[in-house]
Amino acid sequence: MPRQLFVTTALPYANGKFHIGHIMEYIQADIWVRHQRMSGNAVDFVCADDAHGAPIMIAAEKAGKTPQQFVADIAAGRKPYLDGFHIAFDNWHSTDAPENHALAQQIYRDLRDNPQGSLIETRTIEQFFDPEKNMFLPDRFIKGECPRCHAKDQYGDNCEVCGAVYAPTDLIAPYSALSGAKPVLRSSEHFFFKLSDPRCVAFLQRWTQDGRLQPEVANKVREWFSVRKNADGSTSEGLGDWDISRDAPYFGIEIPDAPGKYFYVWLDAPIGYLASLKNLLERRGQDYEAYMADPALEQYHFIGKDIVTFHTLFWPATLHFSGRKTPDNIFVHGFLTVNNGEKMSKSRGTGLDPLKYLSLGMNPEWLRYYLAAKLNGRNEDVDFNADDFMARVNSDLIGKFVNIASRAAGFVHKHFDGRLAGLTDDDEHARLLVQVRTSSEQLQKRYEERNTLQAVMEVMRLADLVNGYWNEQQPWGLPKKASAEPGAAATHLRTLHQVSSATLEAFRVLTVYLTPILPALSKQVEAFLMAPCSHWSDAHQPLGEGHAIAPYQHLMQRVDAKQLEALFEPPAATAPA
Ligand code: MSP
Ligand code: ZN
Repeated sequence: MPRQLFVTTALPYANGKFHIGHIMEYIQADIWVRHQRMSGNAVDFVCADDAHGAPIMIAAEKAGKTPQQFVADIAAGRKPYLDGFHIAFDNWHSTDAPENHALAQQIYRDLRDNPQGSLIETRTIEQFFDPEKNMFLPDRFIKGECPRCHAKDQYGDNCEVCGAVYAPTDLIAPYSALSGAKPVLRSSEHFFFKLSDPRCVAFLQRWTQDGRLQPEVANKVREWFSVRKNADGSTSEGLGDWDISRDAPYFGIEIPDAPGKYFYVWLDAPIGYLASLKNLLERRGQDYEAYMADPALEQYHFIGKDIVTFHTLFWPATLHFSGRKTPDNIFVHGFLTVNNGEKMSKSRGTGLDPLKYLSLGMNPEWLRYYLAAKLNGRNEDVDFNADDFMARVNSDLIGKFVNIASRAAGFVHKHFDGRLAGLTDDDEHARLLVQVRTSSEQLQKRYEERNTLQAVMEVMRLADLVNGYWNEQQPWGLPKKASAEPGAAATHLRTLHQVSSATLEAFRVLTVYLTPILPALSKQVEAFLMAPCSHWSDAHQPLGEGHAIAPYQHLMQRVDAKQLEALFEPPAATAPA
Protein backbone atom coordinates (compact mmCIF):
# COMPACT_ATOMS: atom_id res chain seq x y z
CA MET A 1 0.00 0.00 0.00
CA PRO A 2 1.46 3.39 -0.93
CA ARG A 3 1.91 5.71 2.04
CA GLN A 4 0.54 9.26 2.21
CA LEU A 5 3.12 11.63 3.69
CA PHE A 6 2.99 15.28 4.72
CA VAL A 7 6.54 16.60 5.07
CA THR A 8 7.93 20.01 6.02
CA THR A 9 11.19 21.74 6.74
CA ALA A 10 11.44 24.50 9.35
CA LEU A 11 10.00 27.82 8.19
CA PRO A 12 12.88 30.28 7.79
CA TYR A 13 12.57 33.74 9.31
CA ALA A 14 11.66 36.22 6.63
CA ASN A 15 14.29 38.71 7.74
CA GLY A 16 17.18 37.49 5.66
CA LYS A 17 18.35 35.49 2.71
CA PHE A 18 19.00 31.77 2.92
CA HIS A 19 22.35 30.67 4.24
CA ILE A 20 24.01 27.35 3.59
CA GLY A 21 22.54 25.87 6.80
CA HIS A 22 19.03 26.36 5.41
CA ILE A 23 20.07 24.77 2.13
CA MET A 24 21.49 21.77 3.97
CA GLU A 25 18.17 21.22 5.75
CA TYR A 26 16.23 21.48 2.49
CA ILE A 27 18.59 19.12 0.67
CA GLN A 28 18.31 16.54 3.45
CA ALA A 29 14.52 16.68 3.36
CA ASP A 30 14.36 16.81 -0.44
CA ILE A 31 16.45 13.62 -0.72
CA TRP A 32 14.13 11.87 1.71
CA VAL A 33 11.02 13.07 -0.15
CA ARG A 34 12.40 12.06 -3.54
CA HIS A 35 13.22 8.62 -2.17
CA GLN A 36 9.66 8.23 -0.87
CA ARG A 37 8.19 9.21 -4.22
CA MET A 38 10.54 6.88 -6.10
CA SER A 39 9.28 4.09 -3.89
CA GLY A 40 5.69 4.77 -4.88
CA ASN A 41 4.56 6.82 -1.88
CA ALA A 42 2.59 10.07 -2.18
CA VAL A 43 4.21 13.10 -0.56
CA ASP A 44 3.13 16.67 -0.01
CA PHE A 45 6.27 18.63 0.78
CA VAL A 46 5.75 22.21 1.90
CA CYS A 47 7.45 25.17 3.50
CA ALA A 48 6.74 28.89 4.08
CA ASP A 49 8.31 32.08 5.29
CA ASP A 50 8.08 32.68 9.04
CA ALA A 51 6.91 36.26 8.77
CA HIS A 52 5.97 37.42 12.27
CA GLY A 53 7.69 38.68 15.39
CA ALA A 54 9.35 41.75 16.84
CA PRO A 55 12.73 41.42 15.05
CA ILE A 56 11.03 41.43 11.64
CA MET A 57 8.78 44.32 12.60
CA ILE A 58 11.81 46.33 13.72
CA ALA A 59 13.89 45.40 10.67
CA ALA A 60 11.03 46.48 8.40
CA GLU A 61 10.79 49.79 10.18
CA LYS A 62 14.51 50.35 9.75
CA ALA A 63 14.21 49.55 6.05
CA GLY A 64 11.37 52.05 5.77
CA LYS A 65 8.86 49.38 4.69
CA THR A 66 5.68 47.93 6.08
CA PRO A 67 6.33 44.48 7.58
CA GLN A 68 4.11 43.02 4.84
CA GLN A 69 6.22 44.62 2.11
CA PHE A 70 9.42 43.64 3.89
CA VAL A 71 8.56 39.93 4.06
CA ALA A 72 7.17 39.98 0.51
CA ASP A 73 10.54 41.26 -0.73
CA ILE A 74 12.36 38.45 1.11
CA ALA A 75 9.91 35.88 -0.27
CA ALA A 76 10.54 37.13 -3.81
CA GLY A 77 14.21 36.14 -3.49
CA ARG A 78 13.66 32.50 -2.48
CA LYS A 79 13.18 30.86 -5.88
CA PRO A 80 16.73 31.00 -7.29
CA TYR A 81 18.03 29.10 -4.27
CA LEU A 82 15.34 26.42 -4.35
CA ASP A 83 15.44 25.89 -8.11
CA GLY A 84 19.21 26.16 -8.12
CA PHE A 85 19.70 23.29 -5.66
CA HIS A 86 16.82 21.18 -7.08
CA ILE A 87 14.75 21.53 -3.92
CA ALA A 88 11.26 20.56 -5.02
CA PHE A 89 8.77 21.92 -2.50
CA ASP A 90 5.17 21.55 -3.62
CA ASN A 91 4.30 24.83 -2.00
CA TRP A 92 5.96 27.89 -0.50
CA HIS A 93 3.62 29.99 1.62
CA SER A 94 3.74 32.56 4.42
CA THR A 95 2.70 32.51 8.07
CA ASP A 96 1.09 35.90 7.43
CA ALA A 97 -1.31 34.37 4.87
CA PRO A 98 -5.05 34.31 5.60
CA GLU A 99 -5.05 30.51 6.05
CA ASN A 100 -2.63 30.88 8.94
CA HIS A 101 -4.55 33.69 10.62
CA ALA A 102 -7.71 31.59 10.53
CA LEU A 103 -6.03 28.33 11.61
CA ALA A 104 -4.05 29.93 14.47
CA GLN A 105 -7.17 31.61 15.83
CA GLN A 106 -9.20 28.41 15.57
CA ILE A 107 -6.51 26.31 17.24
CA TYR A 108 -6.30 28.87 20.05
CA ARG A 109 -10.09 28.77 20.55
CA ASP A 110 -9.98 24.97 20.64
CA LEU A 111 -7.26 25.06 23.31
CA ARG A 112 -9.11 27.67 25.31
CA ASP A 113 -12.42 25.84 25.07
CA ASN A 114 -11.05 22.31 25.59
CA PRO A 115 -14.01 20.34 27.02
CA GLN A 116 -11.77 18.67 29.63
CA GLY A 117 -10.65 22.08 30.88
CA SER A 118 -9.00 25.09 29.29
CA LEU A 119 -5.30 24.98 28.42
CA ILE A 120 -5.09 28.78 28.34
CA GLU A 121 -4.65 31.03 31.33
CA THR A 122 -3.99 34.75 31.73
CA ARG A 123 -1.52 36.22 34.16
CA THR A 124 -0.16 39.70 34.77
CA ILE A 125 3.58 40.02 34.34
CA GLU A 126 6.06 42.86 34.61
CA GLN A 127 8.29 43.67 31.65
CA PHE A 128 10.57 46.40 30.40
CA PHE A 129 8.78 49.01 28.34
CA ASP A 130 10.36 51.60 26.04
CA PRO A 131 8.64 54.90 26.89
CA GLU A 132 9.83 56.57 23.67
CA LYS A 133 8.89 53.76 21.28
CA ASN A 134 5.80 53.00 23.33
CA MET A 135 6.32 49.28 23.24
CA PHE A 136 7.35 46.36 25.39
CA LEU A 137 10.91 45.32 24.65
CA PRO A 138 11.92 41.76 23.78
CA ASP A 139 14.99 40.64 25.79
CA ARG A 140 17.22 40.97 22.77
CA PHE A 141 16.38 44.66 22.45
CA ILE A 142 17.41 45.57 25.96
CA LYS A 143 21.09 46.25 26.56
CA GLY A 144 23.17 47.27 29.52
CA GLU A 145 26.11 46.45 31.73
CA CYS A 146 26.66 42.81 32.74
CA PRO A 147 25.87 42.41 36.47
CA ARG A 148 28.72 39.92 36.84
CA CYS A 149 31.73 41.11 34.82
CA HIS A 150 30.53 44.67 34.16
CA ALA A 151 31.10 44.45 30.40
CA LYS A 152 29.15 47.24 28.66
CA ASP A 153 26.48 46.84 25.97
CA GLN A 154 25.41 43.28 26.77
CA TYR A 155 22.05 41.82 25.76
CA GLY A 156 19.15 41.41 28.15
CA ASP A 157 19.39 37.62 28.42
CA ASN A 158 23.08 36.79 28.60
CA CYS A 159 26.59 38.27 28.58
CA GLU A 160 28.72 37.52 25.53
CA VAL A 161 31.89 38.37 27.46
CA CYS A 162 31.62 36.22 30.60
CA GLY A 163 28.72 33.95 29.60
CA ALA A 164 26.49 34.89 32.53
CA VAL A 165 22.76 34.19 32.06
CA TYR A 166 20.31 36.61 33.70
CA ALA A 167 17.01 38.44 33.37
CA PRO A 168 16.88 41.88 31.68
CA THR A 169 15.98 43.40 35.04
CA ASP A 170 19.41 42.33 36.39
CA LEU A 171 21.29 44.56 33.90
CA ILE A 172 23.06 47.60 35.29
CA ALA A 173 22.01 50.84 33.58
CA PRO A 174 19.69 49.15 31.07
CA TYR A 175 18.75 50.98 27.87
CA SER A 176 16.53 50.30 24.90
CA ALA A 177 18.48 49.14 21.85
CA LEU A 178 15.76 50.76 19.74
CA SER A 179 15.70 54.28 21.11
CA GLY A 180 18.44 54.43 23.73
CA ALA A 181 15.80 55.36 26.30
CA LYS A 182 15.88 54.02 29.83
CA PRO A 183 13.22 51.29 29.95
CA VAL A 184 10.60 51.31 32.68
CA LEU A 185 8.88 48.33 34.26
CA ARG A 186 5.25 47.99 33.28
CA SER A 187 2.75 45.29 33.95
CA SER A 188 0.57 43.72 31.34
CA GLU A 189 -1.76 40.76 30.98
CA HIS A 190 -0.25 37.81 29.12
CA PHE A 191 -1.77 34.57 27.84
CA PHE A 192 -0.14 31.28 28.80
CA PHE A 193 -0.39 27.79 27.44
CA LYS A 194 -0.59 25.56 30.55
CA LEU A 195 2.21 23.19 29.71
CA SER A 196 2.50 22.34 33.43
CA ASP A 197 -1.06 20.95 33.43
CA PRO A 198 -0.83 17.27 34.50
CA ARG A 199 -2.68 16.19 31.31
CA CYS A 200 -0.09 17.96 29.25
CA VAL A 201 2.88 16.55 31.15
CA ALA A 202 1.47 13.01 30.91
CA PHE A 203 0.78 13.37 27.21
CA LEU A 204 4.22 14.80 26.41
CA GLN A 205 6.07 12.23 28.48
CA ARG A 206 4.36 9.53 26.48
CA TRP A 207 4.73 11.27 23.12
CA THR A 208 8.41 12.10 23.50
CA GLN A 209 9.51 8.87 25.19
CA ASP A 210 7.65 6.21 23.20
CA GLY A 211 10.60 5.52 20.91
CA ARG A 212 9.63 7.66 17.93
CA LEU A 213 12.26 10.38 18.44
CA GLN A 214 15.94 9.90 17.70
CA PRO A 215 17.46 8.50 20.92
CA GLU A 216 19.77 11.47 21.40
CA VAL A 217 16.81 13.83 21.02
CA ALA A 218 14.56 11.83 23.38
CA ASN A 219 17.29 11.87 26.03
CA LYS A 220 17.67 15.63 25.83
CA VAL A 221 13.90 16.13 26.04
CA ARG A 222 13.67 13.84 29.07
CA GLU A 223 15.79 16.31 31.07
CA TRP A 224 13.22 19.05 30.53
CA PHE A 225 10.60 17.12 32.48
CA SER A 226 12.69 17.21 35.64
CA VAL A 227 14.59 20.51 35.75
CA ARG A 228 14.32 23.70 33.82
CA LYS A 229 16.67 26.66 33.69
CA ASN A 230 15.16 30.05 34.38
CA ALA A 231 16.28 33.28 32.77
CA ASP A 232 18.05 34.34 35.98
CA GLY A 233 20.15 31.17 36.09
CA SER A 234 18.09 29.46 38.81
CA THR A 235 16.28 26.18 38.14
CA SER A 236 12.68 25.00 38.61
CA GLU A 237 10.94 21.64 38.62
CA GLY A 238 9.20 20.33 35.51
CA LEU A 239 7.66 21.99 32.48
CA GLY A 240 6.90 25.68 32.80
CA ASP A 241 3.86 27.34 31.26
CA TRP A 242 4.47 29.00 27.93
CA ASP A 243 3.88 32.70 27.37
CA ILE A 244 2.07 32.86 24.01
CA SER A 245 1.04 36.52 23.83
CA ARG A 246 2.67 39.82 22.98
CA ASP A 247 1.33 43.33 23.27
CA ALA A 248 0.76 45.73 20.41
CA PRO A 249 2.61 47.00 18.48
CA TYR A 250 3.51 43.55 17.15
CA PHE A 251 3.60 42.03 13.66
CA GLY A 252 1.53 38.93 14.17
CA ILE A 253 -1.92 37.42 14.47
CA GLU A 254 -4.50 38.95 16.79
CA ILE A 255 -5.69 36.84 19.69
CA PRO A 256 -9.48 36.38 19.50
CA ASP A 257 -11.47 38.30 22.11
CA ALA A 258 -8.33 40.09 23.36
CA PRO A 259 -7.90 43.50 21.73
CA GLY A 260 -4.29 44.67 21.46
CA LYS A 261 -2.90 41.16 22.10
CA TYR A 262 -1.06 39.11 19.47
CA PHE A 263 0.18 35.55 19.34
CA TYR A 264 3.88 35.21 20.08
CA VAL A 265 5.53 34.26 16.75
CA TRP A 266 6.32 30.71 17.89
CA LEU A 267 2.62 29.98 18.48
CA ASP A 268 1.63 30.63 14.86
CA ALA A 269 4.90 29.59 13.14
CA PRO A 270 4.39 25.79 13.18
CA ILE A 271 0.72 26.30 12.40
CA GLY A 272 2.17 27.72 9.19
CA TYR A 273 3.00 24.12 8.21
CA LEU A 274 -0.70 23.38 8.17
CA ALA A 275 -1.55 26.67 6.46
CA SER A 276 0.88 25.97 3.65
CA LEU A 277 -0.54 22.48 3.21
CA LYS A 278 -4.11 23.82 3.25
CA ASN A 279 -3.24 26.40 0.62
CA LEU A 280 -1.70 23.70 -1.57
CA LEU A 281 -4.65 21.33 -1.21
CA GLU A 282 -7.22 24.02 -1.90
CA ARG A 283 -5.42 25.14 -5.02
CA ARG A 284 -5.61 21.53 -6.15
CA GLY A 285 -9.30 21.30 -5.26
CA GLN A 286 -8.69 18.87 -2.39
CA ASP A 287 -10.38 19.08 0.99
CA TYR A 288 -8.02 19.92 3.87
CA GLU A 289 -10.20 18.52 6.65
CA ALA A 290 -10.69 15.22 4.84
CA TYR A 291 -6.97 15.00 4.12
CA MET A 292 -6.03 15.51 7.76
CA ALA A 293 -8.75 13.12 8.97
CA ASP A 294 -7.16 10.16 7.15
CA PRO A 295 -5.76 8.00 9.99
CA ALA A 296 -3.09 6.64 7.64
CA LEU A 297 -1.64 10.10 6.93
CA GLU A 298 1.95 10.40 8.18
CA GLN A 299 3.31 13.79 9.20
CA TYR A 300 7.03 14.61 9.51
CA HIS A 301 8.97 17.78 10.24
CA PHE A 302 12.67 18.23 9.43
CA ILE A 303 14.31 20.73 11.82
CA GLY A 304 17.66 21.78 13.25
CA LYS A 305 18.78 21.12 16.80
CA ASP A 306 18.14 24.66 18.04
CA ILE A 307 14.35 24.42 17.76
CA VAL A 308 13.70 21.03 19.35
CA THR A 309 11.73 22.40 22.34
CA PHE A 310 9.20 24.05 20.07
CA HIS A 311 8.70 20.92 18.00
CA THR A 312 8.75 18.18 20.64
CA LEU A 313 6.85 19.98 23.44
CA PHE A 314 4.86 23.02 22.36
CA TRP A 315 3.86 21.82 18.89
CA PRO A 316 2.56 18.32 19.72
CA ALA A 317 0.79 19.71 22.81
CA THR A 318 -0.83 22.49 20.77
CA LEU A 319 -2.11 19.97 18.25
CA HIS A 320 -3.19 17.29 20.69
CA PHE A 321 -5.11 19.55 23.09
CA SER A 322 -6.84 21.36 20.27
CA GLY A 323 -8.13 17.97 19.09
CA ARG A 324 -5.81 17.60 16.12
CA LYS A 325 -3.47 15.00 14.70
CA THR A 326 0.07 15.12 16.12
CA PRO A 327 3.24 14.64 14.05
CA ASP A 328 4.47 11.09 13.51
CA ASN A 329 8.00 12.27 13.99
CA ILE A 330 10.40 15.18 14.17
CA PHE A 331 13.67 14.61 12.29
CA VAL A 332 16.45 16.63 13.92
CA HIS A 333 19.75 17.44 12.23
CA GLY A 334 22.83 19.17 13.64
CA PHE A 335 24.38 22.38 12.43
CA LEU A 336 26.52 22.84 9.36
CA THR A 337 29.85 24.54 9.92
CA VAL A 338 32.19 25.66 7.13
CA ASN A 339 35.89 24.78 7.03
CA ASN A 340 35.82 24.00 10.76
CA GLY A 341 34.50 27.49 11.28
CA GLU A 342 32.00 28.75 13.74
CA LYS A 343 28.42 27.75 13.15
CA MET A 344 26.53 30.01 10.83
CA SER A 345 23.88 31.74 12.80
CA LYS A 346 20.93 33.88 11.92
CA SER A 347 22.90 36.96 12.92
CA ARG A 348 26.46 36.20 11.85
CA GLY A 349 25.76 35.14 8.31
CA THR A 350 27.71 32.55 6.43
CA GLY A 351 31.07 31.63 5.03
CA LEU A 352 29.61 29.83 2.04
CA ASP A 353 27.07 31.87 0.13
CA PRO A 354 24.71 29.50 -1.72
CA LEU A 355 24.00 31.94 -4.55
CA LYS A 356 27.67 32.66 -5.01
CA TYR A 357 28.24 28.91 -5.25
CA LEU A 358 25.72 28.75 -8.09
CA SER A 359 26.92 31.88 -9.83
CA LEU A 360 30.46 30.45 -9.98
CA GLY A 361 29.00 27.66 -12.10
CA MET A 362 29.52 25.08 -9.37
CA ASN A 363 27.25 22.09 -9.85
CA PRO A 364 24.44 21.96 -7.24
CA GLU A 365 24.62 18.18 -7.30
CA TRP A 366 28.18 18.26 -6.00
CA LEU A 367 26.83 19.87 -2.85
CA ARG A 368 23.86 17.51 -2.66
CA TYR A 369 26.21 14.55 -3.01
CA TYR A 370 28.71 15.89 -0.50
CA LEU A 371 26.08 16.63 2.15
CA ALA A 372 24.40 13.27 1.57
CA ALA A 373 27.77 11.59 2.11
CA LYS A 374 28.08 13.36 5.49
CA LEU A 375 24.54 13.10 6.93
CA ASN A 376 23.75 9.96 8.92
CA GLY A 377 20.28 10.76 10.27
CA ARG A 378 21.52 11.64 13.72
CA ASN A 379 21.51 14.97 15.49
CA GLU A 380 25.18 15.68 14.84
CA ASP A 381 26.97 18.70 13.40
CA VAL A 382 28.45 18.43 9.93
CA ASP A 383 31.43 20.34 8.60
CA PHE A 384 31.81 21.52 5.03
CA ASN A 385 35.51 21.15 4.32
CA ALA A 386 36.78 22.42 0.98
CA ASP A 387 39.51 19.77 0.51
CA ASP A 388 37.22 16.96 1.58
CA PHE A 389 34.53 18.31 -0.78
CA MET A 390 36.88 18.26 -3.74
CA ALA A 391 38.21 14.81 -2.94
CA ARG A 392 34.80 13.23 -2.55
CA VAL A 393 33.33 14.79 -5.65
CA ASN A 394 36.31 14.23 -7.92
CA SER A 395 37.50 10.84 -6.67
CA ASP A 396 34.28 9.18 -5.58
CA LEU A 397 31.33 10.71 -7.40
CA ILE A 398 33.10 11.28 -10.72
CA GLY A 399 36.12 8.97 -10.52
CA LYS A 400 34.26 5.91 -9.33
CA PHE A 401 30.70 6.41 -10.50
CA VAL A 402 30.23 8.85 -13.41
CA ASN A 403 33.28 7.62 -15.31
CA ILE A 404 31.85 4.11 -15.57
CA ALA A 405 29.47 5.34 -18.27
CA SER A 406 31.99 7.01 -20.54
CA ARG A 407 34.27 3.95 -20.60
CA ALA A 408 31.62 1.49 -21.69
CA ALA A 409 29.57 3.69 -24.02
CA GLY A 410 32.37 4.18 -26.55
CA PHE A 411 32.65 0.48 -27.34
CA VAL A 412 28.91 0.04 -27.73
CA HIS A 413 28.80 2.80 -30.32
CA LYS A 414 32.01 1.92 -32.11
CA HIS A 415 31.43 -1.79 -32.49
CA PHE A 416 27.77 -2.55 -31.88
CA ASP A 417 25.78 0.19 -33.51
CA GLY A 418 24.81 1.66 -30.15
CA ARG A 419 22.87 -1.44 -29.12
CA LEU A 420 23.20 -3.53 -25.96
CA ALA A 421 23.84 -7.27 -25.76
CA GLY A 422 21.48 -9.64 -24.02
CA LEU A 423 22.92 -11.40 -20.97
CA THR A 424 22.28 -15.02 -20.16
CA ASP A 425 21.08 -15.70 -16.68
CA ASP A 426 24.14 -17.23 -15.10
CA ASP A 427 27.18 -15.83 -16.85
CA GLU A 428 29.68 -13.71 -14.95
CA HIS A 429 28.25 -10.55 -16.55
CA ALA A 430 24.78 -11.27 -15.28
CA ARG A 431 26.25 -12.14 -11.89
CA LEU A 432 27.65 -8.61 -11.57
CA LEU A 433 24.15 -7.27 -12.03
CA VAL A 434 22.72 -9.64 -9.46
CA GLN A 435 25.26 -8.33 -6.96
CA VAL A 436 24.42 -4.72 -7.78
CA ARG A 437 20.69 -5.37 -7.54
CA THR A 438 20.95 -7.24 -4.25
CA SER A 439 21.66 -3.99 -2.38
CA SER A 440 18.36 -2.43 -3.40
CA GLU A 441 16.40 -3.21 -0.24
CA GLN A 442 19.21 -2.26 2.10
CA LEU A 443 19.58 1.06 0.29
CA GLN A 444 15.89 1.83 0.60
CA LYS A 445 16.19 1.24 4.31
CA ARG A 446 19.16 3.59 4.56
CA TYR A 447 17.26 6.34 2.79
CA GLU A 448 14.22 5.78 4.98
CA GLU A 449 16.45 6.22 8.05
CA ARG A 450 17.98 9.36 6.49
CA ASN A 451 21.31 7.60 6.76
CA THR A 452 22.49 8.81 3.37
CA LEU A 453 26.10 8.48 4.55
CA GLN A 454 25.64 4.69 4.59
CA ALA A 455 23.65 4.76 1.34
CA VAL A 456 26.42 6.62 -0.47
CA MET A 457 29.06 4.31 1.02
CA GLU A 458 27.15 1.29 -0.24
CA VAL A 459 26.78 2.74 -3.75
CA MET A 460 30.51 3.52 -3.81
CA ARG A 461 31.23 -0.07 -2.75
CA LEU A 462 29.13 -1.24 -5.70
CA ALA A 463 30.90 1.20 -8.01
CA ASP A 464 34.21 -0.30 -6.86
CA LEU A 465 32.81 -3.70 -7.73
CA VAL A 466 31.83 -2.58 -11.23
CA ASN A 467 35.21 -0.96 -11.80
CA GLY A 468 36.94 -4.09 -10.52
CA TYR A 469 34.94 -6.20 -12.94
CA TRP A 470 35.83 -3.86 -15.81
CA ASN A 471 39.54 -3.99 -14.98
CA GLU A 472 39.50 -7.74 -14.63
CA GLN A 473 37.76 -8.24 -17.96
CA GLN A 474 40.16 -5.84 -19.72
CA PRO A 475 37.65 -5.14 -22.52
CA TRP A 476 39.88 -2.46 -24.03
CA GLY A 477 42.24 -5.23 -25.25
CA LEU A 478 39.52 -7.22 -26.97
CA PRO A 479 39.21 -5.33 -30.31
CA LYS A 480 42.92 -5.86 -30.91
CA LYS A 481 42.66 -9.53 -30.00
CA ALA A 482 39.74 -9.90 -32.38
CA SER A 483 41.74 -8.59 -35.33
CA ALA A 484 44.81 -10.64 -34.33
CA GLU A 485 42.89 -13.91 -34.09
CA PRO A 486 40.31 -14.03 -36.92
CA GLY A 487 39.14 -17.48 -35.78
CA ALA A 488 38.21 -16.20 -32.29
CA ALA A 489 37.11 -12.74 -33.38
CA ALA A 490 33.41 -13.38 -32.87
CA THR A 491 33.97 -14.66 -29.32
CA HIS A 492 36.14 -11.66 -28.37
CA LEU A 493 33.66 -9.20 -29.78
CA ARG A 494 30.81 -11.00 -28.07
CA THR A 495 32.65 -10.66 -24.74
CA LEU A 496 33.36 -6.99 -25.40
CA HIS A 497 29.67 -6.48 -26.09
CA GLN A 498 28.59 -8.29 -22.95
CA VAL A 499 31.08 -6.55 -20.66
CA SER A 500 30.16 -3.12 -22.01
CA SER A 501 26.44 -3.87 -21.79
CA ALA A 502 26.62 -5.29 -18.27
CA THR A 503 28.69 -2.28 -17.20
CA LEU A 504 26.20 0.20 -18.62
CA GLU A 505 23.32 -1.66 -17.05
CA ALA A 506 25.10 -1.65 -13.68
CA PHE A 507 25.69 2.06 -14.15
CA ARG A 508 21.99 2.57 -14.74
CA VAL A 509 21.09 0.65 -11.57
CA LEU A 510 23.54 2.76 -9.55
CA THR A 511 21.99 5.84 -11.10
CA VAL A 512 18.57 4.73 -9.85
CA TYR A 513 20.09 4.32 -6.39
CA LEU A 514 21.50 7.86 -6.47
CA THR A 515 18.46 9.53 -8.04
CA PRO A 516 17.18 11.00 -4.73
CA ILE A 517 20.55 12.75 -4.35
CA LEU A 518 21.29 13.52 -8.02
CA PRO A 519 17.94 14.14 -9.72
CA ALA A 520 19.33 16.16 -12.62
CA LEU A 521 22.13 13.71 -13.38
CA SER A 522 19.56 10.95 -13.30
CA LYS A 523 17.56 12.73 -16.02
CA GLN A 524 20.71 13.05 -18.15
CA VAL A 525 21.40 9.35 -17.73
CA GLU A 526 17.83 8.55 -18.75
CA ALA A 527 18.37 10.51 -21.96
CA PHE A 528 21.72 8.88 -22.57
CA LEU A 529 20.63 5.29 -21.91
CA MET A 530 17.16 5.93 -23.30
CA ALA A 531 15.82 4.05 -20.29
CA PRO A 532 14.10 4.98 -17.02
CA CYS A 533 16.00 5.66 -13.78
CA SER A 534 13.48 7.66 -11.80
CA HIS A 535 11.43 4.95 -10.11
CA TRP A 536 12.95 2.57 -7.60
CA SER A 537 11.53 -0.42 -9.47
CA ASP A 538 13.47 0.67 -12.58
CA ALA A 539 16.51 -0.87 -10.90
CA HIS A 540 14.89 -4.27 -11.31
CA GLN A 541 13.67 -3.99 -14.91
CA PRO A 542 16.60 -5.13 -17.07
CA LEU A 543 17.18 -3.58 -20.48
CA GLY A 544 16.56 -6.12 -23.22
CA GLU A 545 18.88 -7.37 -25.95
CA GLY A 546 19.22 -4.81 -28.73
CA HIS A 547 18.23 -1.85 -26.54
CA ALA A 548 19.56 1.29 -28.24
CA ILE A 549 21.41 4.00 -26.35
CA ALA A 550 22.14 7.60 -27.34
CA PRO A 551 25.66 8.85 -28.06
CA TYR A 552 27.59 9.53 -24.83
CA GLN A 553 27.66 13.11 -23.73
CA HIS A 554 29.77 14.36 -20.91
CA LEU A 555 27.71 13.93 -17.72
CA MET A 556 29.54 15.89 -15.04
CA GLN A 557 32.50 18.24 -14.69
CA ARG A 558 35.14 17.87 -11.98
CA VAL A 559 35.52 20.48 -9.23
CA ASP A 560 38.27 22.93 -9.98
CA ALA A 561 40.32 24.14 -6.98
CA LYS A 562 40.02 27.65 -8.38
CA GLN A 563 36.26 27.53 -7.95
CA LEU A 564 36.64 26.73 -4.27
CA GLU A 565 39.16 29.52 -3.87
CA ALA A 566 36.76 31.97 -5.46
CA LEU A 567 33.90 30.67 -3.34
CA PHE A 568 35.67 31.41 -0.08
CA GLU A 569 37.35 34.61 -1.17
CA PRO A 570 35.95 37.36 1.05
CA PRO A 571 33.97 39.99 -0.84
CA ALA A 572 36.20 42.85 -1.96
CA ALA A 573 36.18 45.70 0.54
CA THR A 574 34.07 48.52 -0.81
CA ALA A 575 36.18 51.54 -1.66
CA PRO A 576 35.40 54.65 0.36
CA ALA A 577 33.17 57.06 -1.55
N1 MSP B 1 11.58 30.50 12.05
C1 MSP B 1 12.15 29.51 12.87
C2 MSP B 1 11.56 28.14 12.57
C3 MSP B 1 10.07 28.07 12.65
S1 MSP B 1 9.49 26.47 12.27
C4 MSP B 1 7.86 26.52 12.61
C5 MSP B 1 13.66 29.44 12.65
N2 MSP B 1 14.10 29.96 11.50
S2 MSP B 1 15.64 29.99 11.08
O1 MSP B 1 15.68 30.64 9.80
O2 MSP B 1 16.43 30.54 12.10
O3 MSP B 1 16.09 28.49 10.91
C6 MSP B 1 15.44 27.66 10.00
C7 MSP B 1 16.05 26.26 10.04
O4 MSP B 1 17.41 26.35 9.65
C8 MSP B 1 16.03 25.62 11.43
O5 MSP B 1 15.69 24.26 11.34
C9 MSP B 1 17.46 25.76 11.88
O6 MSP B 1 17.87 24.77 12.79
C10 MSP B 1 18.18 25.60 10.56
N3 MSP B 1 19.53 26.11 10.62
C11 MSP B 1 19.94 27.36 10.98
N4 MSP B 1 21.29 27.39 10.95
C12 MSP B 1 21.77 26.17 10.58
C13 MSP B 1 23.03 25.62 10.32
N5 MSP B 1 24.15 26.30 10.45
N6 MSP B 1 23.08 24.33 9.91
C14 MSP B 1 21.96 23.60 9.69
N7 MSP B 1 20.76 24.08 9.93
C15 MSP B 1 20.64 25.34 10.43
O7 MSP B 1 14.35 28.89 13.49
ZN1 ZN C 1 29.64 39.44 31.83
